[in-house]
Amino acid sequence: MRRRWPHWLRKVQNVRNKSSFPTAAQPIGIFDSGVGGLSVLREIRRELPHENLLYVADSGHAPYGDKSAKLIEARAIAIVEFLIGQHAKAIVVACNTATGVAVQTLRARFSLPIVAMEPAVKPAAAYTQSGVIGVLATSRTIASDNIARLRERFGADVKILLQACPGLVEQVEAGDLSGAQTRVLIERYVLPLLEQQADALVLGCTHYPFLAPLIREIAGPAVAIIDPAAAIARELRRRLTSAAMLSHATTAGAEQFWSSAAPDTTRSVIAQLWQPGIDVLHLPHAPAA
Ligand code: DGL
Repeated sequence: MRRRWPHWLRKVQNVRNKSSFPTAAQPIGIFDSGVGGLSVLREIRRELPHENLLYVADSGHAPYGDKSAKLIEARAIAIVEFLIGQHAKAIVVACNTATGVAVQTLRARFSLPIVAMEPAVKPAAAYTQSGVIGVLATSRTIASDNIARLRERFGADVKILLQACPGLVEQVEAGDLSGAQTRVLIERYVLPLLEQQADALVLGCTHYPFLAPLIREIAGPAVAIIDPAAAIARELRRRLTSAAMLSHATTAGAEQFWSSAAPDTTRSVIAQLWQPGIDVLHLPHAPAA
């Protein structure tokens, strides 16, 4: 029996078959397990005001933290294929968990520039006076090779405390950035790090920058809270510049949003975290595994 590919996948295949090189005018594709990657989108918008940005929130599968590596990888591939179908010239994996699990596969499979997350251990190690830094991330990121590598590289000079933070992604997905339950969770994760003299906290999950005001309130003004998003946006600019793919536009770029959850649910939280009045489209069904 002849297999019928979904419409969006046929579009991807057409793009691939044409083997056309992306051009500077094409948009940048960004994705996360949910709305956390908006903290990266924010920095990309600041760094690259003229680029058109496509954002996919895989909120129908969030949190990735408790999903299998196989599922996360399959989701990452399906989303990148979708974004290529939308003519993305470059991809930003705005998710530490997906980076840890899938970035090597994505880079082996797709030839366009792929920029991914890296917990900001280096700047935290450069900053600390106490010699102790804390990394807040999902359980899966804490257990990843990325963190093991960073520990090997910087662990001799500073003490790196790793703190998994189950539940925080869900709080941000629900738009609860400062409620009692969110505060309880942050106190549970942050206070033990402060007791061990950590004076720099690395936000190792892209959802957490939205909790930074509450983390700041709990940690106090002397503790540095370090988010790698601005560095990721600069890296994206470098990659586009060296590939001669930086947009030549002089007018403000636009954003377009998709979600794999019910768009109405995601719309309200994206409106809260990004800006009111935005439209969110439903991500066409894509194979999950
Ligand atoms: N924003 C994702 C990250 O940076 C959250 C992952 C999850 O959904 O567990 O890791």
